Amino acid sequence: MKCKVCKGPALIDVRRHNANFCSDHFIRYCREQVSKTLKEFDMAEPGDRLLVAVSGGKDSFAVWDILESLGFDTNGLYVGLGIGEYSDTSGQYVRDFATGRNLPLTEIDLRSTYDYDVPTASAVTRRVPCSACGLSKRHVFDKECRKGNFDAIVTGHNLDDEAAVLYGNVLRWQTDYLGRQRPMLPALNGFPKKIKPLVRLSERETAAYCVLRGIDYLVEECPMAAGNKHLSYKAALNLIEEESPGSKQAFYFGFLRDAVDRFDLTTSDPNQDRSDVATEDSPILSPCIECGSPTNVETCSFCRLLRRASGAKPVPVELIRKKY
Ligand code: AMP
Ligand code: FES
Ligand code: ZN
Ligand code: ZN
Repeated sequence: MKCKVCKGPALIDVRRHNANFCSDHFIRYCREQVSKTLKEFDMAEPGDRLLVAVSGGKDSFAVWDILESLGFDTNGLYVGLGIGEYSDTSGQYVRDFATGRNLPLTEIDLRSTYDYDVPTASAVTRRVPCSACGLSKRHVFDKECRKGNFDAIVTGHNLDDEAAVLYGNVLRWQTDYLGRQRPMLPALNGFPKKIKPLVRLSERETAAYCVLRGIDYLVEECPMAAGNKHLSYKAALNLIEEESPGSKQAFYFGFLRDAVDRFDLTTSDPNQDRSDVATEDSPILSPCIECGSPTNVETCSFCRLLRRASGAKPVPVELIRKKY
């Protein structure tokens, strides 16, 4: 196996591009893919200040490292979700990464800032942990992005993640979600710009990038994610990809090219509240009376979660794990 660029011995194959790379040229390939994505979807321009949401996993470390190498002004953001040992370990990985590279990091711990954690919120709301987890992360991301006046909030979603979400949304024809499934959401109605620069890289590629760059990341998945439907969608798409390399990319990028506009309500209704659209009725936004975040009801969903979960008796992770 020879590197496509230098013809030296190759370390990794990227079947959907029919290409093999040595270590240096694979790293260059990953950075070029991100650079291309940033331009293609109007995600960021040189000089932009980017807030990178980091979880301790391979994807968010890879995107942070790549954005740094491309010369962006970056700041990490870690949210302590209070998911037992998993959160303790992931927080440590994030701190080690940031200090090792002298990068600025903001840490917001749900328990010390808001007096609740994800397992407790899941118990009091009687909903799957991912629901309170997603709501909390979105709120903190938006708030910190506004507070620090960043140009965008960056997440590490990769091609496998986005193809699996798309697959799930298509299976159930969740048209409102389909209309918002873009790798770049512009700043709108008080919500900051949101970007996913890794959508041209697969999970296997972000993992290889970290290994080749000597980045130590947490391999373990969130213990609450077991049974998550996206894992089975990923497995289904992997079977198809194995038979026909390039299918995931064709599925996701074909959707962005030919279909997403057909489902996007915000193009006809600029007041559509993106984060609350599935739960709230009125599309007219005003500041939440408690936290000031844009919302289409008096009190935003995050503050309503706080009312129920904040100060509630802490519930251990194991109890929630058994339940879901
Ligand atoms: P996930 O929803 O766990 O697949 O994560 C998707 C992306 O959200 C990651 O790549 C990160 O950019 C971000 N993220 C997930 N968990 C956290 C966290 N605890 N703190 C900050 N960002 C996170
Ligand atoms: Fe949110 Fe697991 S990462 S519940
Ligand atoms: Zn090479
Ligand atoms: Zn609020």
